[in-house]
Amino acid sequence: MVASPLNYTGGKFKLLPQILPLFPQEIDTFVDLFCGGGNVGANVRANAVFFNDFDSNVIGILSAFKAIPKEEIIQFINNTIEDYRLSNVSANGYDFYDCDSAKGLGQYNRNQFLQLREDFNNLPQRDYHYYLLLYVLVIFSFNNQIRFNQSGKFNLPVGKRDFNGKMQSKLSQFIDKLQEVNCVFSNADFRQIDIEQFDENDFVYADPPYLITCATYNEQGGWTELLEHDLYEFLNNLHAHNIRFALSNVLTSKGKTNTILQQWLEDNPQYNCHHLNYTYSNSNYQVKDRTLVSDEVLITNY
Ligand SMILES: C[S@@+](CC[C@H](N)C(=O)[O-])C[C@H]1O[C@@H](n2cnc3c(N)ncnc32)[C@H](O)[C@@H]1O
Repeated sequence: MVASPLNYTGGKFKLLPQILPLFPQEIDTFVDLFCGGGNVGANVRANAVFFNDFDSNVIGILSAFKAIPKEEIIQFINNTIEDYRLSNVSANGYDFYDCDSAKGLGQYNRNQFLQLREDFNNLPQRDYHYYLLLYVLVIFSFNNQIRFNQSGKFNLPVGKRDFNGKMQSKLSQFIDKLQEVNCVFSNADFRQIDIEQFDENDFVYADPPYLITCATYNEQGGWTELLEHDLYEFLNNLHAHNIRFALSNVLTSKGKTNTILQQWLEDNPQYNCHHLNYTYSNSNYQVKDRTLVSDEVLITNY
């Protein structure tokens, strides 16, 4: 299995060993409705994969990884690192930059990173060059995340790491995988996806932002109770059309309960709720009160 080179809060890579066996054996088109970093769509066995996310930057990066030869992508990243005189620890080691692994490379890279960020934010066109440059920013940014402010400017600060060996091999394996699977990309709100294009041989996987937890893509009130209701209606509609689906979510987390989800499950006893064994942070293991631990679930209609 390959991990996405985009670091996503709620990314499902670690959960794949529990989720994938619960998917149907035979899938014609796999629809990754909220694909994010693409961890699930890239690892599922299906004849075709439909990656959808309403974040145009994520879809832009994934499309660039699919369309451009791997050597060109790596060359572009290395050239940008050289042009901006960013660190290259895998070639030169930490001492060369007067840094160490514990403290990281932020201090050395900060100014060059800010210049790169400014140049990126001034790019007029959203083409492959824009998305590859965005990916270089992600490599050097805090926690390798993507975050834009309300005026559409990338605004994360510099991070601790660079394009190190681990990152290089993650990216290389992910590009290989994406280029080998038969896939298409879609940049839409899930409510705009026309389900008439799918049938009972296809399978829709929904991994939405979780209503009761917080993530970067949900910071500006992105996911609401209204969207939560709309999603359940969308899934009910799939069921009415004999299209199989699976939904990832948490029923409870840190003392909060998703009551809308709970009610939907009560109203629809035909759906199956599988409780997964997963904790988002190691600190969960130390929590004495078990009600504070996340109850991560996969809900299926088959
Ligand atoms: C939990 S993440 C998906 C993580 C992904 N499964 C992975 O493993 O990398 C949820 C995603 O839903 C996307 N999203 C939020 N609201 C959406 C909407 N209305 N329609 C489609 N995608 C949406 C976000 O941009 C985010 O990428």
